[in-house]
Amino acid sequence: MQGFSQAADNNKAAILAVLAEWLPNQTKLLEIGSGAGQHAIHLAAALNHVLWQPSDREIVLPALTSNIDEYGPANILGPITLDLAAHTWPAQTYNCVYAANVMHIVSSELGENLIRRAAKVLTDEGLLALYGPFKYAGDFTTPSNADFDLWLKERDAQSGVRDVEWILDLATHAGLRLVEDRQMPANNQMLIFQKTAD
Ligand SMILES: C[S@@+](CC[C@H](N)C(=O)[O-])C[C@H]1O[C@@H](n2cnc3c(N)ncnc32)[C@H](O)[C@@H]1O
Repeated sequence: MQGFSQAADNNKAAILAVLAEWLPNQTKLLEIGSGAGQHAIHLAAALNHVLWQPSDREIVLPALTSNIDEYGPANILGPITLDLAAHTWPAQTYNCVYAANVMHIVSSELGENLIRRAAKVLTDEGLLALYGPFKYAGDFTTPSNADFDLWLKERDAQSGVRDVEWILDLATHAGLRLVEDRQMPANNQMLIFQKTAD
């Protein structure tokens, strides 16, 4: 597999357990920032009632597409370009938008884009699932997440572990309500939001 990530491999089983609970029925899912496609391949294979649409920036597409072609099950669609900076979102609706380890990588402006645009493409009662490290009222959940935040910012000053309260505020304004905040292994959280009917 091109671009294999040990971290993505380590957390895929725990993520599957949560998504399996929240996505029991036929689901059209859009993944943002699929990376090498490890989650897409594993999760779609286990959740064969989910039609999984991977996406990422243009530069990532060749490796992502090659991995999906080689290892993906039949219910994964060909990856599409979706750049949070370029507003290249598909003109379709989805029952779930899933983004793992993206909110702390992209700038806060692009994180806002993710939440606002996700809310627009979700069907009524559709779910936004955000996985990764988060902080609460400015406090890191662990010293290692504080170190990780410093490391991220040294690499790119616009990156950083985000406050759940900031995300909650954006989500509320976008018509999404928090339905679960689950603690995950390795100091991560899964935040699940549901779109409220207009
Ligand atoms: C840390 S990786 C996470 C990959 C995968 N989701 C995982 O959990 O292993 C962050 C991902 O965000 C993507 N990303 C960065 N900037 C982006 C942007 N402007 N629009 C969409 N995705 C972006 C990167 O290409 C990368 O695949």
